Amino acid sequence: MDKELERILPGADEHPATIHRAMRHSVFAGGKRLRPILCLEAGRLFGGNEEALLRLGAALELIHTYSLIHDDLPALDNDDLRRGRPTCHKVFGEAAAILAGDALLTLAFETISAPGPASESQRLRVIHELAHAIGTKGGMVGGQMVDLETSRATARPETLQYIHSAKTGAFIRMAVRAGGIFAGAPEEDLDRISTYGEKVGLAFQIADDLLDVLGSSESLGKTAGKDGQQQKATYPAMYGVEESQRIAAQLIGEACKLLEPYGDRGLRLREIALFLITRKS
Ligand code: IPE
Ligand code: IPE
Ligand code: MG
Ligand code: MG
Ligand code: MG
Repeated sequence: MDKELERILPGADEHPATIHRAMRHSVFAGGKRLRPILCLEAGRLFGGNEEALLRLGAALELIHTYSLIHDDLPALDNDDLRRGRPTCHKVFGEAAAILAGDALLTLAFETISAPGPASESQRLRVIHELAHAIGTKGGMVGGQMVDLETSRATARPETLQYIHSAKTGAFIRMAVRAGGIFAGAPEEDLDRISTYGEKVGLAFQIADDLLDVLGSSESLGKTAGKDGQQQKATYPAMYGVEESQRIAAQLIGEACKLLEPYGDRGLRLREIALFLITRKS
């Protein structure tokens, strides 16, 4: 995946160098590459073209990295540490960090729309659905907006569920779905793996909230304890640590059950789902 990202991103010396360095700083800082891996494995399940899936997965990672850069900005979560490095705005300044986020987002759509092994209708469908998943109506930006407007003291369970499903779940669901679309999966299978993605996506954000409470900044590569400091609405704050762990494990159990029709072919997606709630970073 990193090789593919290297092929897509402009070099550090390419003009205008500041923006390209800022983009590369955040993309090549490490990161689990979870969304590309989900996309790739979902596509492989239906015999998708490897080259097309790698390209698509890398584009998803560009979008994810844009969301991290903007999430860390002083006006949003105001974080200094990301992926074990100082955040983009700490190194390059706020203006370059905002533009680096914008540039990664637009480069992702340039990448997906470019001619390649996937058909025009597959590319158009992914672009259309992906734009929705990271948009304002139940998508990432909508979730981020409500996240910023909500405090844990007044949060209601349905608001918390909205924030998590929108800011994180919708994009993870789409990563799985995009792989399936590029591989030409039948509609019934697309529905099934989308539900898998939805459950895994919500469990992923619950695990992220839990790691903020239980993990260390060193192992996370980002500041631990931030959600408490900022009075964010989170699962552990609403339900406690143990109940949040139980909810996340239940969602993963339900997600894995959806893979049963695929037998051994679903093993990778099952393993990824289990990793998401046992991970330490
Ligand atoms: C962090 O995502 C942001 C959330 C949506 C919770 P990841 O935990 O996937 O971050 P990286 O890509 O590994 O840095
Ligand atoms: C961020 O959620 C979700 C995004 C869309 C980036 P968080 O604010 O909890 O993510 P971290 O903990 O900073 O990675
Ligand atoms: Mg945030
Ligand atoms: Mg944050
Ligand atoms: Mg978090």
